Amino acid sequence: MSDTQAVAQTTAQMLEEKIRSRAARVGIIGLGYVGLPLAVEFAHAGFSVTGIDISEEKTGKVNGGESYVGDIPTATLAGLTAAGKLRATTDFSVVAELDTINICVPTPLRKTKDPDMSYIMSACQEIARHFHPGMLVILESTTYPGTTDELVLSMLEQSGLEVGKDFFLCFSPERVDPGNPKYQTKNIPKVVGGVTAACTAMGRLFYSQALENVVPVSSTQVAEMVKLLENTFRMINIGLVNEIAMMCDRMGINVWEVIDAAATKPFGFMPFYPGPGLGGHCIPIDPFYLSWKSKQAGIEARFIELAGYINGQMPHFVVDKVQDALNDAGKPVKGSRIHVMGVAYKRDIEDMRESPALDVLLLLQKRGARLSYSDPHVPSLKLDGLHLEAKPEEAAAEADCVVIVTDHSAFDYAGLLDRAQLIVDTRNALKNCAGPKIVRL
Ligand SMILES: NC(=O)c1ccc[n+]([C@@H]2O[C@H](COP(=O)([O-])OP(=O)(O)OC[C@H]3O[C@@H](n4cnc5c(N)ncnc54)[C@H](O)[C@@H]3O)[C@@H](O)[C@H]2O)c1
Repeated sequence: MSDTQAVAQTTAQMLEEKIRSRAARVGIIGLGYVGLPLAVEFAHAGFSVTGIDISEEKTGKVNGGESYVGDIPTATLAGLTAAGKLRATTDFSVVAELDTINICVPTPLRKTKDPDMSYIMSACQEIARHFHPGMLVILESTTYPGTTDELVLSMLEQSGLEVGKDFFLCFSPERVDPGNPKYQTKNIPKVVGGVTAACTAMGRLFYSQALENVVPVSSTQVAEMVKLLENTFRMINIGLVNEIAMMCDRMGINVWEVIDAAATKPFGFMPFYPGPGLGGHCIPIDPFYLSWKSKQAGIEARFIELAGYINGQMPHFVVDKVQDALNDAGKPVKGSRIHVMGVAYKRDIEDMRESPALDVLLLLQKRGARLSYSDPHVPSLKLDGLHLEAKPEEAAAEADCVVIVTDHSAFDYAGLLDRAQLIVDTRNALKNCAGPKIVRL
C-alpha cells in the first residue's frame, strides 16, 4: 500500500469513526421545509448540528427555539437548542469546523422553465471557501441527473482534494411530505448514491445513524433520477385523472365514485385524485428538470409536457364550473361574492407555493367576482393587486358561491353545507353529502 493510500484510508476511517460515535459535527445548509426537519433528526440522534441559512429571520428563530415549519413543534426545537444540540447561523465560515454538510437549498424553475441552479451554486461556492479534508457533502435539493457530478464535484475538486479519498460526495433525494402524520423524515426510506463506492458507503453510514431505513444506489445520477421518477409519476397520473375528470364531467359521471370503485381492485391500480391544479414546490416543478435535461439528450419528454398542459387547465376548468353554477342560479359571475375555502397548496399545511388557489382567485378576479377566503393556516395573502385577509368560516354565508379549493380537516363542512347557498367542491370534501347546492368537480 502506498503512503497516499494509507493517508486516504485514515481520512475515511477517521470520518467513519466520528459518524459512528456521533462526534461528527453536522451542518445543514438551507433551513426550510427539508433542512429544518433533517437538522432536528440528527440533533435527536445525538449529533451537534449547525444550520446555515441566508435568512437571519430563520436562524434567529432556530436559535430562539421557535419553529416555523408545521411538522416541527416549537417545544421540540426549543428542547434541542436549549440542550446545545442545534444552533443556526448565517456565517458560512463555520463550514471549516464541520465534518458533514447536507445542502437543502431551493431549486426553482426560471420563467423559461429552465432549472435555476443559482442557490446550489452559491451554497457550493461558500462550502468551497472553507472546504477541508475529511468532509462528507450530500446534495439533497431536487435537481436534474448529473448535477452532483457535473456541477458540485467540479467545484469541490478545485480544492485539489480527491473525491472518495480525501472527501466524500453523494446525492440523496428528499422525500418529505409536509403535513403527513404517518411518514416524516425519520421513517421515510432514504435513497443515497455517491460519486464513488466509498462515498455511497459514507452516505449510508451517516443517514443510518438518524433515519430508520437507508437505500444505497450505485451512483449520484441514479439517486437524482429516483426523485424525478417519483414526482413525474405523480404529476402524470394526476394529469391523467384530471383529464378523466373533465371527460366524466362532460358525460355526467361522478369521477370520485369511479376512482373509489376502481381502487377496490387489489392489484395494478393506484388511485390518484383530480383537483383544482398542481401546487407546492415539487410536483409542478421537478418534472421540468427532467424534461430540460432529457431535451439535451435528444429526447422530448412528451408525457410531462402533456400532463403539464392538462394540469395547468384545471384552475380554468374550476372557474368555468363556478361561472356555470352561478349562471344556473341566475347570477353573473361579475359582481358575485365568491368565497374560497382553503388557499394553501394542500390540506393542513400553510405552504402557498404554486398553490392552485392563487390561479383560481386571479381568474375569478379577472371575471369581476368579489372575493374572500377562509384558511386557518394562511392569515393573509397578497398577489398581483389582490390583498386579502382570511375571514372566519361563517363568511361563507354571505357568498353567492363557495369554492372548496383546499380541504383542510379543520373546516366545519356540515356547518358550511348549512350556511352556503352554492358550493363548488374541487376536492370531494362533501363526499357523503348530496343536494342541489353542491357542484362537484
Ligand atoms: N418542501 C418539500 O416538500 C420538498 C420535498 C422534497 C424535496 N424538496 C426539495 O428540497 C429543496 C429545498 O426545499 P424546501 O421546501 O426546504 O425549500 P425552502 O424554501 O423551504 O427552504 C430553503 C432554505 O434555503 C435557504 N437558502 C437559500 N439560498 C441559500 C444559500 N445560498 N445558503 C444557505 N441557505 C440558503 C432559504 O433561506 C430557505 O430557508 C428543494 O430542492 C426542493 O425541491 C422539497
